Amino acid sequence: MKIFVDTADMDAIREANAMGILDGVTTNPSHISKESGAFDDIIRQICDEVPGPVSAEVVATDFDGMMAEARHNAGIADNVVVKIPIIPEGLKAIKACADEGIKTNVTLCFSPNQAYLAAKAGATYISPFIGRLDDIAHDGMDLIQTIRQIYDNYGYETEILGASLRSPKHVVECALAGCDVVTLPPDVLQKMLAHPLTDIGLERFLTDWKAWEAKQADGKVLA
Ligand code: E4P
Repeated sequence: MKIFVDTADMDAIREANAMGILDGVTTNPSHISKESGAFDDIIRQICDEVPGPVSAEVVATDFDGMMAEARHNAGIADNVVVKIPIIPEGLKAIKACADEGIKTNVTLCFSPNQAYLAAKAGATYISPFIGRLDDIAHDGMDLIQTIRQIYDNYGYETEILGASLRSPKHVVECALAGCDVVTLPPDVLQKMLAHPLTDIGLERFLTDWKAWEAKQADGKVLA
């Protein structure tokens, strides 16, 4: 399963990339609104840091506007994937992008039928929003499982990109459900490594090691 980070914060992206396991980045207009500078520069900087797919979202909601932005965003860097919301005009744009060879990440997916139509239109990625469904007492993971089954039934190659994740538990559940990709808030990526027994165990190993070194220095260790 590929790991993307879900942010436009360069410090967080660099930190995640330094871990050596980062495959890509997703951004959205809310992420961009927290950064300073021009949109193209922000996206270009991320693309320079991370060679994998970097999602850059359109903000137009009509077909012509979406296509103009899609072509523009795709031209910012070779690894840009154009993010398009799954609305009626968006569906047309996804198909047109597929015909033009522009990769797409279809966003704001909350139902199996939206995911099915996106795949039929030739989406590269579908982004079901797990956390936002959980937030309104629906089961986000159930959506992932249903989409996985539909795509497998018919051999759709659209990759399932688990989005709106809130916790390391979501990551495990996405992996079990067969997600192709997860996009993580930077803090969730950090939390995936954390375990109190790892910290306690390491402290004990190092304490024992220091005690042994001290004994050896005193000549109390038998060869
Ligand atoms: C996906 O690409 C979205 O940017 C993102 O995962 C939304 O997450 P949120 O529900 O935490 O805003």
